[in-house]
This record gives sequence, structure tokens and C-alpha cells, in this order.
Amino acid sequence: MAVAHVLVFPFPIQGHINCMLHFATALVGAGVHVTFLHTEHNLRRLGGRASSASGSPLLRFLSVPDGLPDDHPRSASDLPELYKSLAGGATGPYRDLLSADAGADPTGGFAPVTCLVADGLLPWSFDVAEELGVPAIAFRTASAGSFLAFLSVPKLFELAELPFPVGGDLDEPVRGVPGMESFLRRRDLPSACRRPKDSDDDVGPALRPLAKLSADNGKARALVLNTTASLERSALAHIAPHMRDMFAVGPLHAMSPAAAASSSLLREDDGCMAWLDAQADRSVVYASLGSLAVITHEQFTEFYSGLVAAGYPFLWVLRPDMVKASQDAALQRTAAAAAGDGKARVVAWAPQRDVLRHRAVGCFLTHAGWNSTLEAVVEGVPTVCWPVSAEQQINSRFVGAVWRNGLDMKDVCERAVVEKTVREAMESDEIRRSAEALAQQVKRDVAAGGSSVTEFERLVGFIRELSA
Ligand code: UDX
Repeated sequence: MAVAHVLVFPFPIQGHINCMLHFATALVGAGVHVTFLHTEHNLRRLGGRASSASGSPLLRFLSVPDGLPDDHPRSASDLPELYKSLAGGATGPYRDLLSADAGADPTGGFAPVTCLVADGLLPWSFDVAEELGVPAIAFRTASAGSFLAFLSVPKLFELAELPFPVGGDLDEPVRGVPGMESFLRRRDLPSACRRPKDSDDDVGPALRPLAKLSADNGKARALVLNTTASLERSALAHIAPHMRDMFAVGPLHAMSPAAAASSSLLREDDGCMAWLDAQADRSVVYASLGSLAVITHEQFTEFYSGLVAAGYPFLWVLRPDMVKASQDAALQRTAAAAAGDGKARVVAWAPQRDVLRHRAVGCFLTHAGWNSTLEAVVEGVPTVCWPVSAEQQINSRFVGAVWRNGLDMKDVCERAVVEKTVREAMESDEIRRSAEALAQQVKRDVAAGGSSVTEFERLVGFIRELSA
């Protein structure tokens, strides 16, 4: 049988890179050769960190251009531009890489690429691969629940659930997403389902292409999801008939060995670990809104005031580009508080997985990005969710209403509510017990014989067959 050599190609943003690198590392652990494809820009930012921590001769890192000029800021608000430019900039070099000779590197032991596992947001990469005879598998980094919501968009329009009536009540229940009708409200659907505030714009033009993207993933040889049957059994069952095959192999960060290569585009500030060491058990609120969210100065002030009022020490990730305008004033204020009584610590980027597993962390104030949600689940840390965009709205509903390992604060950003919700997450025995039970359940899924391990083994067999 030919040696399997998988090209793993994430959409080049932090949340997608992290998740797919864990996947790549797990493949390498199963003896599969992997080429991990970054953009040139990101590979430059990662520098030696990209490869030095991996240490495996089965894993190599290559890059393609993203089509943007070198001096482009590539900020969170530029994502649509990156999305477009990537196809233009990367297709040629990507095609070369997949064509038999160029993808090989006999000196490094790499045969030509035999299988593609690409981010489902890169449909053009599937077309090129299949055209060159390389079988393509789609990988989605978000939850099964959110994927199902996107698949259900045509049905939501058909049932006139979409578009929402102008000025309508966002707490109204929603029909049309199978298995979720008992708990899903309008406000829990992905952000793209909402009209911009006070407008009567049609959401269709933005939403339908996203729905089509999900439906088109069904053309790939299979769909891989970073989730687990015990968390999302019902959603997985409803997705399966739309896919040629499907594998739920997560949470991948808990499946792959700890020594995965670093994929942090920002430098982690390890100093916060010593600060955590000096705090009492379960006394600290860890606050981070992920890699993309941008908040207003007013929202920043409400969070800050609510966290201070809650009275617990807090560790806050404030990315340099996170607060719109007045970032300096914002930082000065929190830095002053941190220096003042040692009750707060602000960092630009934290080693999040280490933070979440630290004994001092009592709860996680998060935007409910899927990676962050899973990382908290695995560590049994209660979460307070304040979803910002994309599919985070639906993740936070699962946390608050289905798994009950935290509270959903969506659409409200007031200091009194922040204070009350953080206190409740820190102090509620019920939430703590649910979070711990959920962690145990998910840890069984990623242990030998567990559902995700079994699915991963089946996936490796599937890839080997496709590569033969
Ligand atoms: C977004 C989406 O919301 C997410 O659901 C989707 O699947 C990917 O795109 P993002 O905003 O980056 O992602 O959030 P999240 O999915 O939570 O990923 C953030 C990652 O960065 C996590 O793996 C987290 O551990 C890491 N992180 C975050 C750090 O390492 N340090 C930090 O300080 C903050």
C-alpha cells in the first residue's frame, strides 16, 4: 500500500490553524506523513516556532501566498478580503504542490501528496485537488450544531423563519433546525441570520452563500468535525445523511500529544502563569474573546467595571487590536489596576490551554469560539459566554441551555450583568458539577476505545484506502 501523505490546509486564521494543527499532529501520531500548509505571511510570523516544537520527521510546513500585499494589516475586519485574495494568490502554487513531482521530497521521505484535508471554507482547493486526482476531504473547525444550522438555512427561509421580522422579538423560538427546536431561539442562530441593527436589509445575499458552502462540503469524500458524539450526537445524526461519510474526531487538542508545534501567531505571555501560581484555587476569572473579536470602548468599560465589581482576581487577554479606538486609555486603566492591588493581570495573548488547566482558574469569560468552548469543556471550567460573531451564538446556547456547564450572556453587555453572571459561574455548585461531569464524559471519548478515538482510527483507515 502506498504511503499516505496528507496535505492539511487550514483557512489562515488562528482558530482554524490551531484546530487543524492538532489534527495534523494526531495524523502524524498514526504514522501518516503530513504537509501542513500555511500562508507565507503566517509562516513568517511563526518563524522557527512553526516547526521546532513538532520534532517529527513525518510533519513538514510549507506555504503559499495569500494574495495580499506584504504590508497589508490583515486585521479581523479584513477577513472577507483575505477570503477572496487567497483563492487568487494561492491557487497556482497550491496546484504545483499537488501535482505529483512538486509535492514530493524524497530526501525528507515525503512521497507525492495522496490526500487533501482542507478547510471547508476553501472550496476551490477541493476542485483543484480532485482535478489532479488527489481525493479531497472537508474539515470544518466549528461545532456540528452550527454546521447543521447553516445546512438548515434553505429550510428556515422556506418556513419563513428567515428573515426575522423587522423589530421582531429575538427570543422567539425557531423551527427548522432539526433536533434543536426545543431550545433554539432567533438570537441563537449564527450572526449572519440577523439584520444589521435597525435596518431592513435582506440577509439572504450574505447568508445563502454561507449555507451553500456547508451544503457543498457534502461533495467532498467525507466531512471531518472537531467534535464528539457525546456532545453533539443529535446534530451529527442530522448532518450525516447530507455527507458521503463523516468523522467526529474531537476535541482534537485533547487527542493529539501535548508537544504539538506552536501555532500562536501572537507571542504568548507566559508571565501570567507565575501570577496564576500566586492565586488561590479556583479564585481567578480568565477573560478572553479569542483571536478576532473587536469590541467598542463602551463594551470594554462595561466588562472591566463588571469584572472589578465581581471582586475576583482576573486575567484578561487584551489583544492589541481588540478594542476599537482608545486602546491606550483602556490598557492604561487595566494596567493601573493590575499594578495597584495585584487583582488583575492583562496580557496581549495567553497560553490559553495552560491557563484553563491551572488550578487557580475558577471560570472563563469567553466569546464561545468553538476552540475556546472545547478547551473549557475538557478542563471542566465553567464558562460565561458573550458571543460576538459567526457561529458563536449557537455554541453559547449549547453551553447555557443544553450542557449547562456555564451561562449565556449573549446580547447584553452591562456591568451589573457581567458582575452577577461572573459571580454565579464562580459560585454555583450546580454549574461546577455539570462542567466536571461534561469533562469526564468528553475525556472518555478521547481515551482508548472512546468514540472520537474509534472514529479517528476509522478516518486513518479511510485516508489510507484513498491513498492506495
Ligand atoms: C473563530 C470562531 O469563533 C470559531 O468558532 C471558529 O471555529 C474559528 O474562528 P476564534 O475567535 O479564534 O475563532 O476563537 P476560538 O475558536 O476560540 O479560537 C481561539 C484559539 O486561540 C483557541 O485555541 C485559544 O486557545 C487560542 N488563544 C486565545 C490563545 O492561545 N491565547 C489567547 O490569549 C487567546
